[in-house]
Amino acid sequence: MANRLALVTGGNGGIGTEICKSLSAAGYRVVTTCVDAERERIEDWQAAMRQDGYEVDWVECNVANFDACAAMAKEVEAKHGPVEVLINCAGITRDAFLHKMDVDNWNAVITVNLNSAFNVTRQFIDGMRERGFGRIVSIASVNGQTGQFGQTNYSAAKAGLHGFTMALAKEGARKGITANTVAPGYIATEMTEAIPEDVRKGILAKVPAGRMGRPDEIARVVAFLVADESEYINGALIPINGALFCSF
Ligand code: CAA
Ligand code: NAP
Repeated sequence: MANRLALVTGGNGGIGTEICKSLSAAGYRVVTTCVDAERERIEDWQAAMRQDGYEVDWVECNVANFDACAAMAKEVEAKHGPVEVLINCAGITRDAFLHKMDVDNWNAVITVNLNSAFNVTRQFIDGMRERGFGRIVSIASVNGQTGQFGQTNYSAAKAGLHGFTMALAKEGARKGITANTVAPGYIATEMTEAIPEDVRKGILAKVPAGRMGRPDEIARVVAFLVADESEYINGALIPINGALFCSF
């Protein structure tokens, strides 16, 4: 694995933090994007990670903006060298029934959750093809497999993300590049804390495992997928949802 460089978008979020930890623990050099370093107090986050024994660098980047992603890629590669592992983890929700959804909330969710995969991956795919190695994992959602109330935007974006993965997997398969999707169920982070309490209870009652997932339960699968030895796992969608949705 030789000290490969991994970039995690949204690496300072709930799930992203655990992905950064698990990749760092596995020996990768890790960089996270953050939207606004000052607002997110990224240096405090970095210091806390360091205290726990994880060295993670950061770079400002709004993944909704293609030009910002191009600038971010230049900055990261100039400082650290080629990105060989990419985790598309940045995401947002803007929930509303379709009959109440405005165009801004549609566009924001499609742009941050889906277009970002193009905006970021496009910056690194040429280098991965030239070097004959790449690992790309995109974080989708059970709600992209099943649909969810109030989430026509999010469900469309997350379903689309797996289409992106499957096409990219075929394009990279002879170049040593894999693309896979991880589809978490309900995981305890700020994103799920924002669900109205009564609705959250109702969702939890339907999870056969009887609890929310933990971010580290997602991170360990990501680390498995990006390993050098995982080359034949390509174009897959791995659900991690406490048996909330079984597809067969
Ligand atoms: N499951 C079951 N029923 C739901 C529901 C859900 N997830 N969301 C809403 N409903 C039901 C409500 O219980 C309510 O039912 P009643 O009319 O019988 O009371 C009905 O839909 C209308 O809901 P509201 O009164 O809340 O209507 P609203 O217009 O004010 O809000 C809403 C609608 C924005 C969808 C709001 O209910 C909501 O935020 N729901 C949560 C949606 C959700 O589950 N989002 C997941 C976010 S976490 C995530 O996305 C991470 C991931 O990938 C898993
Ligand atoms: P989170 O804690 O809110 O983290 C989201 C991360 O994305 C944050 O770091 C956030 O940065 C970043 N982000 C948002 N908009 C961005 C933008 N425009 N550019 C760059 N980064 C941006 O949520 P989470 O639960 O860890 O979610 C991580 C991923 O898992 C998301 O893709 C989410 O859809 C997916 N997911 C979550 C669950 C769940 O139950 N939690 C389930 C399935 C899938 P800021 O801090 O600046 O906002």
